[in-house]
Amino acid sequence: DRNLKIAPSILAGDFADFGREVRAMESQGADWIHVDVMDGHFVPNLTFGPPMVKALRPHVTTLMDVHLMIAPVDPYIEAFAEAAADRLTAHVEAGPHIHRTLQAIAAAGCKAGVAINPGTPMDAVAPVLDLVDLVCVMTVNPGFGGQSFIESRVPEIARLREMIGDRPVHIEIDGGVDSKTAGRCVAAGADVLVAGSAAFRGGSADAPEAYGKNIRAI
Ligand code: DX5
Ligand code: ZN
Repeated sequence: DRNLKIAPSILAGDFADFGREVRAMESQGADWIHVDVMDGHFVPNLTFGPPMVKALRPHVTTLMDVHLMIAPVDPYIEAFAEAAADRLTAHVEAGPHIHRTLQAIAAAGCKAGVAINPGTPMDAVAPVLDLVDLVCVMTVNPGFGGQSFIESRVPEIARLREMIGDRPVHIEIDGGVDSKTAGRCVAAGADVLVAGSAAFRGGSADAPEAYGKNIRAI
């Protein structure tokens, strides 16, 4: 399916060599680059912030899809926008004012996405579907790569596709996506698949062919 986008998550890459990882992935057919920002508070893990996004910017020629697993979000929007992220995706659970947050992201010049955790009813994103170009459906509890796919989210993907109707909104699936789980997500209505461990398994920036094989297998 040529409308299906694969967004490798550099969380599974070599942290000391992100620039080369991004170039290797893009040379092997990655559609977007997914960048996981974690704050050690909204999720129990820490990654990096705006300076890393800024440093990555010149290496990404596709689309830099920044997943903000942080709370609060609003104080950092300007810095991520200045770092030239293409899309900022904020969690519906990150605070009481997701509507304001998504407006602020758009006002800062980025595409706006909303992410939703496995424990949150899908209806929580209904009021903001006109403010986003993407809903990121978490199929693991966010914080770490390499966790197993939460199967019970699949029918919810189909329900979300119905809620979206004819709006131009992507459904992105994040967590535990591999060659076994991808098909069910796409059948339910997903059109963007984030892949961390499944995309990077067995590969390196020195030998990027494995990345290509992994991407095609998903
Ligand atoms: C999880 C992150 C994911 C992660 C996915 O908190 O949001 O993007 O990198 O990794 P895998 O594909 O290994 O589950
Ligand atoms: Zn993510």
